[in-house]
Amino acid sequence: MKYGLQELLDLINKTIENFEWKKEPGKLYDPLRYTLSQKGKRIRPLMVLIAYQLYRDDCERVVLPALAVEMFHNFTLIHDDIMDDAPLRRNMPTVMKKWNINVAILSGDQMLLEAYKLLLKVDHRLLPAVLDKFNHIATQVCEGQQWDMDFEDEEMIPVFRYLKMIEAKTSVLLGYSLWLGAMLGGSTVKDADRLFECGKNMGIAFQLQDDYLDLFGNSGQTGKRVGGDLLAGKKTYPVIKAFDIANHQDKQILLKCLHDRSLDDNFRIKTVLDIMHKYDVKSFVEDKIKDYMSLSWLLLDKLPVDPARKKNMFELMEMLQIRKS
Ligand code: IPE
Ligand code: IPE
Ligand code: MG
Ligand code: MG
Ligand code: MG
Repeated sequence: MKYGLQELLDLINKTIENFEWKKEPGKLYDPLRYTLSQKGKRIRPLMVLIAYQLYRDDCERVVLPALAVEMFHNFTLIHDDIMDDAPLRRNMPTVMKKWNINVAILSGDQMLLEAYKLLLKVDHRLLPAVLDKFNHIATQVCEGQQWDMDFEDEEMIPVFRYLKMIEAKTSVLLGYSLWLGAMLGGSTVKDADRLFECGKNMGIAFQLQDDYLDLFGNSGQTGKRVGGDLLAGKKTYPVIKAFDIANHQDKQILLKCLHDRSLDDNFRIKTVLDIMHKYDVKSFVEDKIKDYMSLSWLLLDKLPVDPARKKNMFELMEMLQIRKS
């Protein structure tokens, strides 16, 4: 295998740095430059390249299509921050705070178009399949985002609906990243589909961890406002789990803190954190993350590919499990 994780990341970041953006109109293109120059983790393009390296070494060939997935992801973040009324991302003001909502809508739209332009760089024989699946998962992301917002207005939701929602809003894109890399690398469709399932399980673990960090993480490390999900009334896994196991009185307190916007923000967060600690909800979430990561680990282990080529992927899984940002 030619490149390790850090070298692949360097390749991704260098290619992004070399993008040339038009200057005018500034309010259309500056937010693209601003967003892409931030230090995101670049997990998705990394997954494309790692999956490609299961089959071939010459990653440089596919770095542009790999960046299509990062571009699409950044587009979803710009619009997600409008929907979630988020002030901070990657320790910087969100596009809608730094400029305004209209700028965030339009520059987000442009970013989606840039994603298609990058996707067009794949081998043209693969283009119909690559585009078709991309459109399919992009629709799922929209469905997931709508469920996520719908749930804000519901008192509580069962865990199976939550899992369906995060599969759509987050995990299919991680699945697609591995699928794309494998297809570009010349894998069989069957193995690319197996990798899609593997990435989907990683994606569920990834969103569970994102929910975990929103509540238990550190703003300096996550780059986002702590407790933002709670204040927005989001039905995240820690909240659903706590509601499931708490006594009647704590359930009522939890619901009040989740939905009563007249209460002080810090009071809402602190009260919910106290309940979380009382029932050791952290451990439940950590176990659930491990369950999904183990599933994806098993799927990768069974994949009929030279085990030496799987090293990067196993390494990435380990890194994701202990991530703090
Ligand atoms: C955040 O994604 C949105 C989710 C789907 C959880 P990342 O945590 O990958 O964000 P960046 O790109 O590293 O900032
Ligand atoms: C975002 O989920 C999922 C998508 C952007 C599609 P979140 O709303 O939890 O992501 P963060 O926490 O703002 O990054
Ligand atoms: Mg959101
Ligand atoms: Mg959000
Ligand atoms: Mg989140």
